Amino acid sequence: MDRRAFLGSLGVSVTGYATPVRVGLIGAGARGTYLLRESLAMPGVSFTAIAEIREDRARRAAGMVKEAKGGEPALYTRGPEDYRRLLERSDLDAVLIMTPQNQHGRQAIAALRAGKHVGSETPPAYTLDECWQLVETREKTGRHYMLLENYPYARPRLMILHMAHRGAFGEVTYGESSYIHDTRELSYEADGSLSWRGEIAHRHRGDVYPTHALAPVSLWMGINRGDRLASMVSMDNGTRGLQAYARERFGADHPAAREGFFAKRDTTITLLRTARERVIVLRYDNGTPRPAGGWEQLQGTRGAYDGSPGAQLVYLHGRSRDHAWEPLEKYRTEFEHPFWREQASAAARAGHGGGDYFVLREFYEALAEDREPAIDVYDAASWSAVLPLSGESIRAGNRSFEIPDFTRGRWKSRKLEHFGI
Ligand SMILES: NC(=O)c1ccc[n+]([C@@H]2O[C@H](COP(=O)([O-])OP(=O)(O)OC[C@H]3O[C@@H](n4cnc5c(N)ncnc54)[C@H](O)[C@@H]3O)[C@@H](O)[C@H]2O)c1
Repeated sequence: MDRRAFLGSLGVSVTGYATPVRVGLIGAGARGTYLLRESLAMPGVSFTAIAEIREDRARRAAGMVKEAKGGEPALYTRGPEDYRRLLERSDLDAVLIMTPQNQHGRQAIAALRAGKHVGSETPPAYTLDECWQLVETREKTGRHYMLLENYPYARPRLMILHMAHRGAFGEVTYGESSYIHDTRELSYEADGSLSWRGEIAHRHRGDVYPTHALAPVSLWMGINRGDRLASMVSMDNGTRGLQAYARERFGADHPAAREGFFAKRDTTITLLRTARERVIVLRYDNGTPRPAGGWEQLQGTRGAYDGSPGAQLVYLHGRSRDHAWEPLEKYRTEFEHPFWREQASAAARAGHGGGDYFVLREFYEALAEDREPAIDVYDAASWSAVLPLSGESIRAGNRSFEIPDFTRGRWKSRKLEHFGI
């Protein structure tokens, strides 16, 4: 057992002191329940309260807490604003925000104002105003905020981060990333009415779920750590895939089978330019039939990465045979990320390629050590800005928009921290 795991098993953080964190869960659906189970397996983490609009789900989650640690968490089930009463409790250090996508921003801001640390599901915010409020409230209150973005922590992605950081690709000049996941089924309740995901697709145009794709490539390229996202432009196609699904499942008379019903389109493409004249291409597609999993690309002056669900390939100038891709695996001994080197067995059973384990571990460790988490409010705000700006760009005839500098110039001196390298 490595040192970190050994200390963890004693309920002691890597810095050597005990780590009691008292958490409140807001939203106990699929994701909230899953991360609750993972959290309950971590040393020093207890749950004192749960807010959930569906009482059956609140009770189910309370049962999990009782079984794992004993005690009865207090339940807040009196509607969508009842989480505010939970925030008034004095026996809570932090909250996990696991509600539908368009609620995270306002709930996180309310939690910070109430003096609680926040671990938020993605996306962090829905409007630029919410992005700024998140940043300003975090700064004013001194509470910690972490976007629980699990995608960067998957094994190949952390290895690419390690390689990029060690200069294996030379100077990185270009990145590409995508989130492709056919979630059309989840847009509807069993009776054909829209679920919250369907409501969002009905009302919001653009890339409404940008961070799974943008986070890994941003970290590889040092965004908010020596460079920043400066401007962007988006384009989308039609809704043929979304319509076809509704027609086949519910018939041609279903409102969602009609053209124009969904504001969001099948596919949204965004091009981002950075302050240091580098380019990132993003694809978001949850409306067409295709197995889950997108592709990722990274280009530098001395090499490239090409990742897809089928294969992870690299080309390292001067090391790989000329013009020939090699399996990433070949470089594992040299570039395996320390997190995976040390804790592969603990992480491997967790969801999203082990990302769920590492992201939660970082959140609780940051709270125990009273420090900024690895993925902080500035990452959250700048990645989240793509959500409102992509819709605006498309509505304005694919106009380019500037992305605010949420760090107010500090991107120039910020470093990659708490990523183990
Ligand atoms: N990081 C990942 O890999 C990942 C994976 C799945 C889902 N997610 C995100 O997690 C979030 C939740 O998704 P899900 O699949 O669990 O959805 P879900 O519908 O299963 O769960 C959401 C829960 O929130 C409850 N809720 C709604 N409004 C509330 C309020 N105001 N107060 C308290 N409870 C409220 C609902 O009753 C429901 O139980 C979404 O933002 C989703 O994008 C992230």
